[in-house]
Amino acid sequence: MKVIVCENYDEMSKRAAKIIAAQVTIKSDSVLGFATGSTPIGLYSELGRMYSEEEVDFSEVTTFNLDEYYPIKKSNEQSYDYFMRKNLFSKINVKDENIHLPNGEAEDPQKECEFYEKMIEKSGGIDLQVLGIGRNGHIGFNEPNSVLVPSTHLTKLTENTIKANSRFFDSFDDVPKQALTMGISTILNAKKIIILASGANKRKAVAELINGEINPKNPATMLKTHHDVTLFCDKEAFAGAKLGIDIGGTAIKFAVINNNEVVYKDSIKTEDTEEKIISSITEKVISLKKDYEITTVGIGTPGRIKEGKVTATNIPFKNTALQDIISEKTGLYVVVDNDANCAALGEIEFGSTKDCENIVLVTIGTGVGGGIIMNRQIARSNNNMGEIGHFVIQAKNGRICPCGQKGCWEQYCSMTALLKDALKAAKKDKESILYNNIEDGSLTGEAFFDAVQKGCPVAQKVFDDYIRYLAMGINSLVNIFGPDAIVLAGGVTKQGEKLLEPLKKLIVGDLRLEISTLQNDAGALGAAML
Ligand code: PGA
Repeated sequence: MKVIVCENYDEMSKRAAKIIAAQVTIKSDSVLGFATGSTPIGLYSELGRMYSEEEVDFSEVTTFNLDEYYPIKKSNEQSYDYFMRKNLFSKINVKDENIHLPNGEAEDPQKECEFYEKMIEKSGGIDLQVLGIGRNGHIGFNEPNSVLVPSTHLTKLTENTIKANSRFFDSFDDVPKQALTMGISTILNAKKIIILASGANKRKAVAELINGEINPKNPATMLKTHHDVTLFCDKEAFAGAKLGIDIGGTAIKFAVINNNEVVYKDSIKTEDTEEKIISSITEKVISLKKDYEITTVGIGTPGRIKEGKVTATNIPFKNTALQDIISEKTGLYVVVDNDANCAALGEIEFGSTKDCENIVLVTIGTGVGGGIIMNRQIARSNNNMGEIGHFVIQAKNGRICPCGQKGCWEQYCSMTALLKDALKAAKKDKESILYNNIEDGSLTGEAFFDAVQKGCPVAQKVFDDYIRYLAMGINSLVNIFGPDAIVLAGGVTKQGEKLLEPLKKLIVGDLRLEISTLQNDAGALGAAML
């Protein structure tokens, strides 16, 4: 199941309408299944708008509605027949003879159900079915039960549903106690299904739909057996705690976010085998699941990710189906993404650039990495987008990079490169403070910056060159992506203004250049928001 979380009800309605319009554009004689209730009203009004502005044509479309109260007169304002004509059919050009709802006026409900099934079959089957979800997980009027009925049938409404629907009637007693509804198989036979959920009162139903076991006591979970279901929900319906995990070479970080606030942070050691890493993550997730109402898990990991499978160099993952394994072991909805992407998402959601739309995060460590955020979303491609450490800044006699190129930015601007350059320069001037700071044949970041601080000209020259290389890359990123801000993270950024000030002088144009305030926490925070 694909889950699309929208900012609000309006966005949810518009995005769902686009899917329906696309279906009708691709197949003009589509058979559409519609639902009633308050949730799809925005969707129907958007379809009406799209029709009136000639964006979509329903003249060849056939429709089947999920359900109808029984018994009820079509003229009754509470009938679903009335609802559909008022909210949708009167606003689009679907032909009257192509509209179908179970007939609440039928004398023999059993016969009506058989007839309805035959009509659907005769139409060639439903191409796209729209569903709402009841607070108790019902779809159509398939109420929670130990046995679900496969085909269209007459059913008794639960007290729960009668109560929920009584808001449309004068009183509880006026709500019909029975209904005709498509069965679970009728619904699952649709080629494509979209399900809409809006508002905090759907939170539990949505959480169970996403994370619960397939169970007739929650009929919506049956949708998990279907290969093409998309859940559109707004943030309110989706809320619940989000767990973010950031897998690093030495530590695995965890962050739980509830109502946009970080409510838990911790880290554990990264084990040395795939099996041990997975079991330590699983154990932690299961214990957090008990303490927090976790709905989703996002995992950031180094390496390449293809269809949830991870292959990394500094972590023992080789085509590891991380997404499926953690989801199976914890019973939660899990998404996996590249760690640099997660950190960039963390920066735009929680960092100093949360007011921006587009940013590029540059992480400077053993290598140079980063993530690109466009329109507040991770910019992705199928081909490893965001390897910003590997664009070439030195065309002639460029330094050899293990990636196969020469002159990659990473070879000049990683912390490793800086310290290598510093060591080389120090060895050339044995009188220098920098040379004096060498310990056991190597230089640490602290030792290097200590020499800069003490006014060592050798160290200063290395630092000036470094800043120049850094500026070259940043200027290129600005030219390519035109971000609102560039955020720098990693050990070297501890230098703060000493790094920013000279760097800003070399930046072309008006750019917000910032040092990450989240640093190593950005990955887990962003993973939670995936
Ligand atoms: P609602 O009902 O859209 O009015 O919340 C949905 C349903 O019960 O299926």
